[in-house]
Amino acid sequence: MSSTGDAPCRLTVCRGCCCGTTKKVPGVDHEAQFARLSTIDDHTGRTVPVRRSKCLDICFEANVVVVQPSAKGRAAGGRPVWLGRITDDDLVEALDDWIFEGGPGLAPLPDALRGHVTSKDAEKPKKAKKTKKAKKKEAEKAAGGKEKDDRAEKSRKKRRKAEKKARKEAVEAERERERERERERIRAA
Ligand code: FES
Repeated sequence: MSSTGDAPCRLTVCRGCCCGTTKKVPGVDHEAQFARLSTIDDHTGRTVPVRRSKCLDICFEANVVVVQPSAKGRAAGGRPVWLGRITDDDLVEALDDWIFEGGPGLAPLPDALRGHVTSKDAEKPKKAKKTKKAKKKEAEKAAGGKEKDDRAEKSRKKRRKAEKKARKEAVEAERERERERERERIRAA
């Protein structure tokens, strides 16, 4: 058994109201991801303990995973690293590699995870307000779309009218041919 001085890295995996839910993070098999995270070993063959946590209060970063440094990593200056938007398998693989190499304090963060570093104090990014110019542009675009629809509808009507006319003419021509045949029969009688 490991002494505290030799403790491995640990993972805290958020599974609250948003992390781990397909409602908030669709297209991910969250339980499979949790199971995969639970199989991560460090270079000494120790399986990294994984704790399932309740909401960590940065739901906009779902799925959130916190990597605690090993005892050696902490002694070397490593601190817990909060990672957000851990959704792809590739990110879990990068996390696995990083922990295998030592994790916080002992190994550099893999490039794949760089854009995912967050913190417990991260603030939800504000939605960019639309400028008047952008709104006008959108309205023009919508109006352009309507014009396009109107033009398409007009051309459909025109086509239907032409088809109806052609059908009428064909029926009339057939009737005329029938009348002509009738006249022929009368003349021949
Ligand atoms: S559910 Fe994970 S941060 Fe809220």
